[in-house]
Amino acid sequence: MCQAHADMALNKKIWAIGGGKGGVGKSLVAANQAISLAKRGYKVVAIDLDLGGANLHTCLGTPIPKMTLSDYFNGTTQNINELVIPTSVGNLSLISGAQDEMGMANLKKLHKNRLLQGLKNLNADVIILDLGAGTAFNTLDFFISSQLGVLVALPEPTSIENTYRFIRSIFFRRLQLFEESFELKSIIDRAQSAKLNQKLNSPKELLNEIKEIDYRKGMYIENEFSRLQLHLILNQVRSQKDIELGHAMEKISRRYFGLNINYLGHLDYDASVWQSVRQRKALLVEYPNAIIAPKIQTMTAKLLNEIH
Ligand SMILES: Nc1ncnc2c1ncn2[C@@H]1O[C@H](COP(=O)(O)OP(=O)(O)OP(=O)(O)O)[C@@H](O)[C@H]1O
Ligand SMILES: [Mg+2]
Repeated sequence: MCQAHADMALNKKIWAIGGGKGGVGKSLVAANQAISLAKRGYKVVAIDLDLGGANLHTCLGTPIPKMTLSDYFNGTTQNINELVIPTSVGNLSLISGAQDEMGMANLKKLHKNRLLQGLKNLNADVIILDLGAGTAFNTLDFFISSQLGVLVALPEPTSIENTYRFIRSIFFRRLQLFEESFELKSIIDRAQSAKLNQKLNSPKELLNEIKEIDYRKGMYIENEFSRLQLHLILNQVRSQKDIELGHAMEKISRRYFGLNINYLGHLDYDASVWQSVRQRKALLVEYPNAIIAPKIQTMTAKLLNEIH
């Protein structure tokens, strides 16, 4: 039995690749993790959710397909499977992003829910979502709805700030969804006002405050947060100091947000990345000997171990 089928207990897992900042390598990671999974025998569908800036097809070396998410949102097709197109890599298919100016922030709730529902009907072992930049609620919701979330950041101050902003946004969006579904609003309001004078410093303190007011609900929320799987990749790394930043970010996230972030590792700045983009070819296909190729494969393996 091949490894993929032995792991069928995986069921249909959704992996989201995100991060606050644009141009940090989300699509590079999404495309090549998808290829890496497909090469291991998993049936993979990669979905370009960078609405308005869709370019995952380029990272996968595939021309823009005829049918894209635009057709799904505007009702040309009701069947998400009609959007799935094969790529040159066996086991790997693509759903291309909207080719209009729609943008994630403008995606209607109805369409978002239809897509989330549609993902369940996709014939795939793993679905990879390539999210666009920014912290639009819709982007956060796709990230939160996934079983596994990967953040891509660069080892530079603006990108790190954006990453923390993204993590913070995930925390508060998740809290907001709890509020809506468990009528926790009054507790959260009370927790926030209880410390009004001292100002709650961190999301973690807010959680502690909620626990003081209602221990059971506070614990429930804390447990839910601890189940959020967040992983961090530092990309375009050029020095040992850059590499170590990831460990510091892990610690800060735990202390400040109460969120466990797992530093998956780093990818070096590598000329073959932009060369592959220019040639409109997938890195792992065109440059399998690139320095970052085995690193991407190791990261994929780590993520698989983690969800077994
Ligand atoms: N490790 C790397 N080494 C060298 N160049 C890189 C590396 N990673 C990314 N790049 C360059 O950065 C560009 C942007 O990468 P990518 O499109 O994956 O980012 P993104 O986060 O998806 O951007 P967007 O937010 O616009 O969707 C690539 O086209 C490539 O030229
Ligand atoms: Mg991208």
